Amino acid sequence: MRVPHDDGPEDEAPKRAPRRGGGERRRGDEAAVEREVDAGARPQESGGNELRPRTFAEYIGQAALKRKLEVFVAAAKGRSEPLDHTLLHGPPGLGKTTMAHILANELGVQLHLTSGPAIEHKGVLAGHLTALGARDVLFIDEIHRLSPTVEESLYAAMEDRRIDLPVGEGSRARTINIDLQPFTLIGATTRTAMLSGPLRDRFQIIEGIELYGDDELAAIVERTASLLGFPITADGAREIGRRSRGTPRIANRLTRRVRDFAQVDGRVEIAATVASKALDTLGIDKEGLDSADRRLLTMIIEGFDGGPVGVEALAASLGEPRDTLESVYEPFLLQRGFLLRTPRGRVATLKAAQHLGLRLPAGALGAQGSFGI
Ligand SMILES: Nc1ncnc2c1ncn2[C@@H]1O[C@H](COP(=O)(O)OP(=O)(O)OP(=O)(O)O)[C@@H](O)[C@H]1O
Ligand SMILES: [Mg+2]
Repeated sequence: MRVPHDDGPEDEAPKRAPRRGGGERRRGDEAAVEREVDAGARPQESGGNELRPRTFAEYIGQAALKRKLEVFVAAAKGRSEPLDHTLLHGPPGLGKTTMAHILANELGVQLHLTSGPAIEHKGVLAGHLTALGARDVLFIDEIHRLSPTVEESLYAAMEDRRIDLPVGEGSRARTINIDLQPFTLIGATTRTAMLSGPLRDRFQIIEGIELYGDDELAAIVERTASLLGFPITADGAREIGRRSRGTPRIANRLTRRVRDFAQVDGRVEIAATVASKALDTLGIDKEGLDSADRRLLTMIIEGFDGGPVGVEALAASLGEPRDTLESVYEPFLLQRGFLLRTPRGRVATLKAAQHLGLRLPAGALGAQGSFGI
């Protein structure tokens, strides 16, 4: 798919995970549905893209990452070379796809978008690679989900700018070698651990995108509200940002929903009080936890005496794939000190128990407070 960078899609459709075990997702649990990770075919990108930043200057936060990428882009442009192959990793909704758009835009080249599961065989990969113009960017989302044969073909494309394609059948079968234009591969993954060593080693730039701080999220909310044409106070933006799980995609979604509440309430702007009331109604609590977060922590505390509980057992009890637990739910809970990852499994902290108004059993690891991992 050839996507001119000035006409990119907005947020991808929410990614869906296959349900395992008897886990019933409660309807109306919007936040959790939003955060699900796709394990089926690549969802269609949809909608207009009025919110996605297009330049480094518009991309809020991630200062260290931006500084590095700006240098790499300027250097590549100065040499009239493609940017080196780049791997972006981090939890969903933090801006990996957005950054791929920005990189292509700043490089002044075309961005071609696809994803690991969509590249079903070598022929599909060859189709994408041969469509690339000189120095173009091929963006492969969910790159950890490439099939082994496709992945192997990608090695030669990345290293030698060549792809070998088998043609014909039986005694007439032969392989043709196709030379490729110099290009940049940008891979995105929520799971670096699931990437094979040989593939990871072929990226010359490997960068993580971290959860955003409250100030950055407040700035993102202010920008979003202004693009939506609905005034917001600094305190209103801070309130939404603080309760967005460190994630711009969630910040954007909550801003839209809070705007709905403010509008229907006859308000002319989003103030902190209106934001707080709307977020309470949406089931996002003061710490930014949604019902899925609370369910996970409650499960550890009540179902497993506070932990430690192995991630597989926890995933089975919640009816969620382990992958979703690790890449979608846990990063925020770990960062905010509600959860600990220990060699023996997951532990709910005292902070989590106190926040939920639950009691940790006296002997629970999390209750020891100073348990440092
Ligand atoms: N730094 C940022 N500044 C402002 N808005 C941002 C920023 N990063 C992301 N966004 C907004 O958040 C949305 C989600 O970002 P994006 O789609 O790039 O996430 P992603 O990391 O690719 O997620 P996934 O892993 O689910 O594919 C974007 O559409 C954009 O509007
Ligand atoms: Mg993406």
